[in-house]
Amino acid sequence: MNTMNSSDYIQLEEKYGAHNYHPLPVVLDRGEGVYVWDVEGKKYFDFLSAYSAVNQGHSHPKIVEALVNQASKLALTSRAFYNSKLGEYEKKITELFGFDKVLPMNSGAEAVETAVKIARKWSYEVKGIAENQAQIIVCDNNFHGRTTTIVSFSNDPDASTNYGPFTPGFIKIPYNSLEALEQILQDQSATTAAFLVEPIQGEAGVYVPDAGYLKGALELCKKYNVLFIADEVQTGIARTGQLIACHHEGVQPDILILGKALSGGMYPVSAVLADDHIMNVIKPGQHGSTFGGNPMACAVAMAALDVVADEGLSERAEKLGKRFRDEIEKIITKTDLIVSVRGKGLLNAIIINDTQDSPTAWNLCVDLMKNGLLAKPTHGNIIRLAPPLVITEEQLTECLAIIKKTVLEYKR
Ligand SMILES: Cc1ncc(COP(=O)(O)O)c(C=O)c1O
Repeated sequence: MNTMNSSDYIQLEEKYGAHNYHPLPVVLDRGEGVYVWDVEGKKYFDFLSAYSAVNQGHSHPKIVEALVNQASKLALTSRAFYNSKLGEYEKKITELFGFDKVLPMNSGAEAVETAVKIARKWSYEVKGIAENQAQIIVCDNNFHGRTTTIVSFSNDPDASTNYGPFTPGFIKIPYNSLEALEQILQDQSATTAAFLVEPIQGEAGVYVPDAGYLKGALELCKKYNVLFIADEVQTGIARTGQLIACHHEGVQPDILILGKALSGGMYPVSAVLADDHIMNVIKPGQHGSTFGGNPMACAVAMAALDVVADEGLSERAEKLGKRFRDEIEKIITKTDLIVSVRGKGLLNAIIINDTQDSPTAWNLCVDLMKNGLLAKPTHGNIIRLAPPLVITEEQLTECLAIIKKTVLEYKR
């Protein structure tokens, strides 16, 4: 019989694990749909969804089935050989998202790295930029992952301090400013390979750009022969009420980066999609990964994409997201603890009425946890609220009641 309790598990992690995270004090043991249970058997609504990886809900039976079947048949071949799942998956994902080709990877950061490499290679071999001169425009407060190159263009000191020397070739401009983008393109488009952007800045605190920003940015990129790269690792796969957030503005990026919920959170699966005139710059031996495109990843991703379509998760996110923000607006009229709510679909955040460095957001999350709902501050005083998209109207009603009670009873 297992006699360990939450604090035993926490102590184990504290002692033997690197301290690169600061988790809420809850030890999860099981999940199903929108729910997770801790080791003591207490049930919670999951309002983080593993940073939007579990859009299809925890342990979705169809995704589990795909994983188990494939794991017991053939898990990994490497790309030294063809396998019987990869082609089928590649056909499915490219047709679904409207691209000629996909390059399969594992984590989101690897997919971003892949996109950066493809864009640079395209800029030398197709656009004709002189060797080692290619620049990529990125946005202030971006979050694209944790590799050395990616943190080279982060403004978050936690992400970059003492990890230098950094990778050159990135220019930062303000997010949500077409003027800044046009200015830099006017001056430097001859040496610019790409513009890399999150359609909504998730980690930074769910910053939704003005309507028309993505469309305007795409047009500017086309005008100046610069690739538009959308990092939809967090916003993709129905999270914001469309299959990808770019679709809200009818935007088809030149390069699309997907991860997280591409597998329903079951397995690390990421992807970079582009058309032939871009993707064909990559030749055998020039990029790869032992696990990228493995049969298990392909089977899981196909099942995860089927669940999104079969269960109408985009439509559900759109509809329930609107209701969620409306109801939070009503709570805001009754308290001075929350300043505002913002987001799209079921990717939302509430802004706490306190300073950036105050512990209020964290403390409120601890109270939410005690009341049965798990959420985590993003940056400073912002709490992201992003449940699995399989959440029902009734479950959302229950969650709103928990949030209301917790906020109204909160003691500063
Ligand atoms: C927009 C975006 N890009 C990339 C990543 C990195 O993904 P991963 O943690 O799988 O490397 C994240 C993770 O939160 C993300 O939100």
